[in-house]
Amino acid sequence: MTKIEFLDLGKQPITNNFLDTQNPKNEFFYDLKVVFDQESKLVSLKNFVPPEKMFNEKYAHRASMSKTMQLAYKNLSVNLKKNFKSDSVLEIGSNDGVFLKNFNVQKVVGVEPCKNLAEITNALNIKTYDKFWNLKLSKEILKDHGKFDLIYSANTISHIHDLKETISAIENILDKNGIFIIEDPSLLEVLKKNSYDQFYDEHAYVFSAISISNLLKSTNMEIFDIEKLATHGGSNRYYIKKIGGNQPTKESVIKILNEEKEFGVDNLESYKKFSSNVKKSKEDLFKIFEKIKKNKNKVIGYGATYKSSTVLNYCGLNTDFIEFFIDTTENKQGKFTPGTHIPIKKPTQDTMKNIDYAYLGAWNFKNEIFEKEKEFISKGGKFITHVPKPMII
Ligand code: TMP
Repeated sequence: MTKIEFLDLGKQPITNNFLDTQNPKNEFFYDLKVVFDQESKLVSLKNFVPPEKMFNEKYAHRASMSKTMQLAYKNLSVNLKKNFKSDSVLEIGSNDGVFLKNFNVQKVVGVEPCKNLAEITNALNIKTYDKFWNLKLSKEILKDHGKFDLIYSANTISHIHDLKETISAIENILDKNGIFIIEDPSLLEVLKKNSYDQFYDEHAYVFSAISISNLLKSTNMEIFDIEKLATHGGSNRYYIKKIGGNQPTKESVIKILNEEKEFGVDNLESYKKFSSNVKKSKEDLFKIFEKIKKNKNKVIGYGATYKSSTVLNYCGLNTDFIEFFIDTTENKQGKFTPGTHIPIKKPTQDTMKNIDYAYLGAWNFKNEIFEKEKEFISKGGKFITHVPKPMII
């Protein structure tokens, strides 16, 4: 057994399963446990949740909902066109087309198993396959469209359980001088920020540069550059090429691999320490909520993110502590948070009036939110966060 369990986040629901009723029958829960593979250095969930339960026509997350993300994808597409002359583009997990719509739509293909999202991009004339990514689909796309200059996948490869098949399906369809980009939350940042809420049903894996580079050892591909990103609370963008491909390898690769080794990302001891930090974070956050409750202050949640679902369910924060959440995503509004059944409302001009505290579910958009809520802050309103440790801001 090379896989060692180091974290138990208790019974958790499907994060994307925003409920139509506050008293649901037969809500699905699973045991959220996290393991470290001492050989491959991969960190993954112990029990994977069946993909059909998570990625279906009810999928709520719309990548275009955040201005920060829209701008980030636009800038990225400009850079990719300039630096790599990327023309034909395949995106795995194309969501609502927030990235692909920045390219010539005639030359791009999306893969998106959530049918509601695939419909949106097909309507934008972006050819989208509403299927799960696998070897079979890669062969179908290869037949229909040939090989690609750029294969891009943000916050998706970490969701796919069979990593070996996923990667070899990508290798098949990538041009010999093409580039494959993976963007996913960084395990180093999770450990540094104690952001244990990166563990939820969809995140089957949280990658490090070390584990990705180990994974690629059985392929004909290698990492040639890594960029650190602020998105999703600290992500890495891994640029991967075929061995012999014409992109030079950048210093960033060895630099980030070394940084991870120095922190102990490849070492079980780091995970044991992380686990005890997480337990302490739970106790401290709960104490903050208890104190606020005692003082009869009014608390709401800000951003009913998937990440926040892990925190609420793990820490036992339900309607006793949080009156309601606000969220700008239309298809979350009017629903209830999974597992904890807190109502989710559409934010209005008046929402933040008479509120004392707002728990930052979307802590990764803290700057955008603080900018938007200047008035709330100037009138003495406070935010609660658990990252990097439970505190009132
Ligand atoms: P994400 O972290 O999974 O991208 O989700 C962010 C969620 O937070 C999304 O449902 C939109 C919500 N949100 C707000 O409600 N208000 C905001 O100002 C921001 C930035 C996000």
